[in-house]
Amino acid sequence: MLKFFVFFLFCTSCLIQVETLTKFRVGGTLTCDYNKKFEYLVTLFEDDILYDEPMGIGSTGHGRGSSSFNVQGQDTDDGWVILWVLLDNTFEVYLKIAHNCNKYDNLWQTYIYYMGDFPIKDGEVYNRSYNINVTDAGVKGRTKRELIESGEFPEFHNKDSDLAFPLK
Ligand SMILES: *[C@@H]1O[C@H](CO)[C@@H](O)[C@H](O)[C@H]1NC(C)=O
Ligand SMILES: *[C@@H]1O[C@H](CO)[C@@H](O)[C@H](O)[C@H]1NC(C)=O
Repeated sequence: MLKFFVFFLFCTSCLIQVETLTKFRVGGTLTCDYNKKFEYLVTLFEDDILYDEPMGIGSTGHGRGSSSFNVQGQDTDDGWVILWVLLDNTFEVYLKIAHNCNKYDNLWQTYIYYMGDFPIKDGEVYNRSYNINVTDAGVKGRTKRELIESGEFPEFHNKDSDLAFPLK
């Protein structure tokens, strides 16, 4: 009984001490071989056991040929991670890059760029830089053109139509 109690105390302190804060600063360039202005949204994600969660706000931008991006994120793990640490004490981190670098007018693609595994270490700051070729890369999404043609968006060409609208 006493043994169990001592064990319990020991583990409680383990749980408290396991809290970690790991930061990521990720930058670099996206290159696009097409001679067009391309737009993008880069978000940092952690590949988690339960669900993938973004680590911080995405970075948007546009460019021609190549363009730089910068994203930051941080991850805190609470005491529950004790289980995790035993299984796998790393973060699997990836960049989710939505972009329209392709030969279409308004086709968005989602490209997943795996950065690899990073040891969970309290106070650690991981600075990384990547040059990523996004040309035609990733899963193709719905185009904006399709959305507009679906007729879900009402059009108000006529400026006077605010008043005329209910009367037709
Ligand atoms: C990461 O960058 C920050 C600020 O840019 C700097 O303070 C820190 O020392 C860098 N860490 C490493 C490991 O390069
Ligand atoms: C970028 O990727 C495209 C498509 O895979 C490829 O054709 C092109 O050669 C690549 N460009 C560079 C600079 O690596």
